Amino acid sequence: MSLPLQSDTTIRFPRLIDCHVHFREPGLEQKGTMRSEAAAAKAGGVGIVCEMPNTDPPTVTIAALADKVRRAAEVDDCGIRFFFGVTDSVHLRAIEELWTGTSADMRRLKARCPGVKIYLDHSTGNQKVNAGLLDDVFQTCGRHGIPVVAHCEDAEMNARLQAENARADVGAHSFIRPPESEAKAIGHAITFAKKHGSRLHIAHLSTRDGVELVRRAKADGLPVTCEVAPHHVFLTTDDYAALGTFAKMNPPLRTRDHVEALWAGIADGTVDCIATDHAPHTIEEKRSSNPLDAPSGVPGVETMLPLLLTVALGGWPHPASARPAACALTMNDIVRLCFTHPNHIFSLGASDEEVLAVDPDAEWTIRGKDLHSKCQWTPYEGWNVKGKIVEWLAVQAVMMSVHPDE
Ligand code: DOR
Ligand code: ZN
Repeated sequence: MSLPLQSDTTIRFPRLIDCHVHFREPGLEQKGTMRSEAAAAKAGGVGIVCEMPNTDPPTVTIAALADKVRRAAEVDDCGIRFFFGVTDSVHLRAIEELWTGTSADMRRLKARCPGVKIYLDHSTGNQKVNAGLLDDVFQTCGRHGIPVVAHCEDAEMNARLQAENARADVGAHSFIRPPESEAKAIGHAITFAKKHGSRLHIAHLSTRDGVELVRRAKADGLPVTCEVAPHHVFLTTDDYAALGTFAKMNPPLRTRDHVEALWAGIADGTVDCIATDHAPHTIEEKRSSNPLDAPSGVPGVETMLPLLLTVALGGWPHPASARPAACALTMNDIVRLCFTHPNHIFSLGASDEEVLAVDPDAEWTIRGKDLHSKCQWTPYEGWNVKGKIVEWLAVQAVMMSVHPDE
């Protein structure tokens, strides 16, 4: 079966995959729990998520991974896979043990781990990898075929700009962590991936130069892939005025020219996946007295599909900005970006056994208080979107409800 299928009133999608979320458990349960954030995923049409290691404790040991896998077994609303974090060489030896272990327990845990996540600069959870370790990370992962997901921002450049910064407004966040910082870090990561033949996936790509670097790496035949996050293609630095710290994330919002470049990258296939970087923080945490001290991150797992559907149906959901010239998306693109590619890149083994039925004519307004994430807010507050999930169906029901000639 090839999805999406269209019947007379609904469109059917495979349950989506979000290959970049932060579900906060264990240790940060005031922001979210596996149960609360999985409910948000399900309500957003997402059936499998890949969760990041910056919890407390971080997922940098086999014991921490086993603990998360145990917790996830109690959660029904979506499947959860867990990236393994590396900040120290001992973590690298642990992932190597996980990847090569032959015991039933190791194989069971490995099946729940889609790869390694590294941070080239600090973000929530202070997981920056020691720069001296990068060569070993790429060599080890290259040797074992472990995908490396990289948060690409240059730590030195960011630190220098932060030290020089005299502004206190949240808009300064985009200057302290500038586009050049992302490009430099991506270039660095690609160099290591090329040297060791390792698979490299760039997380939440946000800049024109970043897209161009990935485009060139692909043209050179390197195993480099990337994702963009909805907030980087629907919001710009203009949104700080209305959203304040609720628009603060890493990497930060960019100007409109970068947003255009991201849409162009989606259109020409340079961008492989759309992934939310769903990163809930409490409203109180976001309302920090010093805006630049507010935690970075926005929720997104429940709003990705309606935002993308609105575009695929010919609209543009942002009430105060114009649709970017390069913005274009078909229903098939949504399946490719949010199911087929992440499924393939991270060998998730998802099938289209369970599908979503979406009513494309249903219009509704996004309200944080109606969403399922524990944080109860959204940067898309008040946006009108199209497309509502009407139900999750088993595959046989779909075949029966579709006209024979379709
Ligand atoms: O904005 C972000 N929030 N970027 C990250 O890298 C981490 C995330 C979080 O965990 O809050
Ligand atoms: Zn993230």
